[in-house]
Amino acid sequence: MAILISGRGSNMAAVVDWLHERRLPVELVLVASNRPEAEGLALARARGLPTQVVDHAGYPDRLAFDQAMAQTLNDAQPDLILMAGYMRIVTPWFCETFTGRLLNIHPSLLPAYSGLRTHARALADGVRVHGATVHAVTADLDQGPILAQAVIPVYPQDDAQGLADRLLPLEHALYPQAAAAVLSGLARLTPQGWQFDGPMAPGFETLRFSQRLLHRELAGDLVHG
Ligand code: GAR
Repeated sequence: MAILISGRGSNMAAVVDWLHERRLPVELVLVASNRPEAEGLALARARGLPTQVVDHAGYPDRLAFDQAMAQTLNDAQPDLILMAGYMRIVTPWFCETFTGRLLNIHPSLLPAYSGLRTHARALADGVRVHGATVHAVTADLDQGPILAQAVIPVYPQDDAQGLADRLLPLEHALYPQAAAAVLSGLARLTPQGWQFDGPMAPGFETLRFSQRLLHRELAGDLVHG
């Protein structure tokens, strides 16, 4: 597996640690960033993972950059590529090159709130639930087939940063489960969308986790400290 990052890298670290804790036989072949200053690179190196920077600033256009990143990925030969806080709009060419092998995590309940500022936009619309989505990456920005989702309640006193902070632990629980389901063959991408070998989509554990979190919050544990 390879992981693409642009910044903090907390989802990358969560996936790597989750796989490691469970001793799953997954080889992390590369953590690549389009930004040399991405904090996540240090987290990857601290975990002994191979890292590489392909700085988008050094390329004339999106396609030239994507071709360079694809070359770097192909050299590492991953079966699955996770975009984890990879803040690049990828070209249709890149999506086609890695069809069925490219996942993204997005901080909203897609198909709502694709793009940026998802938490602020959800709050402005007055939604009562919010969440994160793991999906296959296609040429339609943030609209590829949905693999797994996690849900959090929205409280009247929430602000965008608070929502982001409450959602992040669920992202960290959701993404490794979704990736493991694909790597193990439990989830398969077909022309009709994801097919699951079993009654549950990956991330069901995360839904239970959200439910427990909600109960604790309603009991006042988290809302009132
Ligand atoms: C995460 O919340 C992820 O869902 C989001 O950026 C954050 C990255 O954090 N991704 C996007 O907005 C993609 N459009 P991380 O670098 O700590 O994993």
